[in-house]
Amino acid sequence: MANFKKATSLGDWLDQRLGVKTLEKVLAIEYWIPKNINFLWAMGMVLAVTFLLLTISGIFLLMYYKPDVNLAFDSVNNIIMNEVGFGWLWRHIHAVAASVVFLIIYIHMFTAIYYGSYKQGREMIWISGMLLFVTFSAEAFSGYMLPWGQMSYWAGMVITNIFEGFSPEIAGGMLNAPGLVEWIRGDFVPGDAFLTRFFMLHVLLLPLAMMGLIGLHFGSLRLPHVNNQDGEEIDFDAESKKYLEGHTKDSKVMRFQFDFLSKDVFVLGVFLVFFFYLVFYHFTFALDPVNLDPANGLKTPAHIYPEWYFLWSYEVLRPFPKDPGLIAFMFAQGILFALPFLDRSPNVAPASKRGLFAIWFWVFLIDMIVLTVMGKLPPEGIFNTIGGIAVWTFLGLWIVLPIITLFEKKVRS
Ligand code: HEM
Repeated sequence: MANFKKATSLGDWLDQRLGVKTLEKVLAIEYWIPKNINFLWAMGMVLAVTFLLLTISGIFLLMYYKPDVNLAFDSVNNIIMNEVGFGWLWRHIHAVAASVVFLIIYIHMFTAIYYGSYKQGREMIWISGMLLFVTFSAEAFSGYMLPWGQMSYWAGMVITNIFEGFSPEIAGGMLNAPGLVEWIRGDFVPGDAFLTRFFMLHVLLLPLAMMGLIGLHFGSLRLPHVNNQDGEEIDFDAESKKYLEGHTKDSKVMRFQFDFLSKDVFVLGVFLVFFFYLVFYHFTFALDPVNLDPANGLKTPAHIYPEWYFLWSYEVLRPFPKDPGLIAFMFAQGILFALPFLDRSPNVAPASKRGLFAIWFWVFLIDMIVLTVMGKLPPEGIFNTIGGIAVWTFLGLWIVLPIITLFEKKVRS
């Protein structure tokens, strides 16, 4: 039996039973972060807080939402928006956070690509991050179905149609449905079965997966530590020893709690001002006006397009007929997972110091923006040509990446 003493405080009481002080030491006080980082390294924390905002606002919305094709639209657009006290606020927070979270995810991803933070022991951070990206995308898509407006219905129809590419013979033989699309929908067209299964995914299965993946992402940061602005390989044992001996200024590292945390909280504060400005004054950008009409399977909207954060991958489908389109779409979604292995260079350094990779990075970033803009514009005339060029550029970039990085010279940080 352990040697218990009379506790001197609540903290001490908990420590004797749960080891909370050891936990705090390992996870926060002696979790070492390089000093040489900028505000972009706060995006991970901003993402974690945005996820929290989504969860809390989602719980409030869940108290009044009705997952039924006859009741869903009214429960969101009338009951929550007009009748429930502050229901509109929770909905605005949820809708704005769902959109802004992708902006931050893209900034976070491009920061990692720019600084090469996915290599040399950091591959699992990248892979768990990509798994988070895919689950966040599925979460956003399933959430979009829930208000059961025109865009929910038709975006649901179009996106599930992508799976028509799968042979109905194989699907029909293995699944209890005529084809994969019908199996996913639970019907021939989106209906009640469709809505309730996406509701289950949105409020239970995917959030559970996201929580697990966030744990994995944080865990995978622990051993390799976060990268820094110069990609310098820091000896964390030696530098933390220096810090603990009192040479805090000479040490290249700082504590997570509260050194790094205070920087994070500052950036978080700036982000929250921007976020709540959007929530109160510009929430409409996150709520498509077409979705203010209830779902109607007999009336197709003039333009069906996904939310802005899916546009680049949706655009990749455009130049191809159905089956190759599906392959191109899956390629666009999947290839980013392979980034740590396609980048053959031994350098962990900012793109600006990596010669041809710098050009690759900026072309990739601009190409993603062009794909996003073209995805929103109608598929006709010059937009088709520009969109087509952007798609082939996207595909080509992944072919040239291993070649240019293989011959990259070693840079000294
Ligand atoms: C959406 C939920 C996510 C959360 C809550 C999250 C959280 C974090 C946190 C707290 C850090 C450490 C501090 C920082 O560099 O910002 C981090 C680092 C990192 N994350 Fe994420 N992240 C998420 C998504 C992603 C995605 C989608 C990717 C890319 C595929 C990604 C890739 C990385 C990489 C490579 C690092 C290491 C950065 C470095 O070593 O400098 N994360 N993440």
